[in-house]
Amino acid sequence: MSTPPAAAPRRHDIAVLRGDGVGPEVVEAALTVLDAAERRFGFASDRTEVPLGADHYLATGELLPEETVADLKQRDAILFGAIGSPRVTPGVLERGVILALRRELTQAINLRPVRLYPGVPTPIAGLTPERCDLVIVRENTEGAYVAQGSSVHAGTHAWTAVQESTNTWYAVQRTVDFAFRLASVRRGRLTLCHKTNVLVEAGRLWNAVIEEVGQRYPDVETDYVHVDAMCMHLPVHPERFDVVVTDNLFGDIVTDLGAVLQGGLGVASSGNLNVDGSAPSMFEPIHGSAPDIAGRGWANPAGACLSLAMMLGQLGEGEAAAAVESATAAVLADLPALAGAEMGATTAELGERIASALAEGTAAPVEGSLMSQLAQVSELS
Ligand SMILES: NC(=O)c1ccc[n+]([C@@H]2O[C@H](COP(=O)([O-])OP(=O)(O)OC[C@H]3O[C@@H](n4cnc5c(N)ncnc54)[C@H](O)[C@@H]3O)[C@@H](O)[C@H]2O)c1
Repeated sequence: MSTPPAAAPRRHDIAVLRGDGVGPEVVEAALTVLDAAERRFGFASDRTEVPLGADHYLATGELLPEETVADLKQRDAILFGAIGSPRVTPGVLERGVILALRRELTQAINLRPVRLYPGVPTPIAGLTPERCDLVIVRENTEGAYVAQGSSVHAGTHAWTAVQESTNTWYAVQRTVDFAFRLASVRRGRLTLCHKTNVLVEAGRLWNAVIEEVGQRYPDVETDYVHVDAMCMHLPVHPERFDVVVTDNLFGDIVTDLGAVLQGGLGVASSGNLNVDGSAPSMFEPIHGSAPDIAGRGWANPAGACLSLAMMLGQLGEGEAAAAVESATAAVLADLPALAGAEMGATTAELGERIASALAEGTAAPVEGSLMSQLAQVSELS
């Protein structure tokens, strides 16, 4: 009798968008970790490089060509570094590539965990991992980021600039619904962060959505904080929060503060989630291209590696996702500092350390991992 052929390994078709500055450095480290995950968990990936960013723009004038969007839509997921360069006018690449990608690929939700892992130093005195485990769910396609606005008399002292913020029931509802679902598999608490006392029109819409969607999740308790008060509560009482839902601009700002709680910008991860299956999701560290440290090996790759973990979870590689998260957390806990030369190892060396910890499989599992909660949220949809 002939032996049946061995099953082909699971394959995932991934677009790799390294971008500018430290983007290529942290993505390279994450790919070293992906190699180790594939060896240990028996899957494989096809990786297509997507050359978007400052170099591509300066050489071709292209920001996000239609063919690139069409090609990206065929992939299973996108691993992204960062975009932005002092060689290009601020806003051109950020709006023309990052925001355009999130919009074109209907990446409705920007998911940003704020978690302090055991042993990782935080600048917030007295903060412990038990008190810092929340997720910020940011609306990702509209608000102030729809780029609607106009100027008259620009360049004169009569200059008048109008910058609008758009809030549609449709986009707010899908964000809020995702946030409720996530809260229902976590600690059952959802906080709206907004500025309803001043931005009253947008605030009324967000509140009405919370009220209507909330009726489907009677076990989730709701809470509200103004975004200015959030900047006080987040560092002082992070344990108050489980899932925070907020608009695009407020989410962008408060998640940088969240990153500080967990050790700094280099540690924080994110997923731009397409929740209707029309296009791939995109996973990226929350930091930018950090031109001040680019090329020196001083960028912490943990945010990129934790974004990789989220990507693996979304690709159905739940075990690998949890292992990448725990290996990254274990390596972080051993570092003397979380950024710059003080880390005592380069970006590439840290990628290798995380890959080795993953291969050895000795890192303590992370309790209550977001990766497994996200799998439960997809089951609920
Ligand atoms: N999604 C994105 O691609 C994205 C996000 C934010 C900013 N940007 C762009 O990036 C460029 C730089 O912006 P910025 O300086 O305001 O923000 P930044 O996040 O690039 O850097 C802010 C500070 O954090 C440090 N830092 C960033 N990443 C780090 C890492 N992995 N390890 C250690 N330290 C790290 C930097 O050295 C810098 O001091 C701008 O062009 C901006 O528009 C892009």
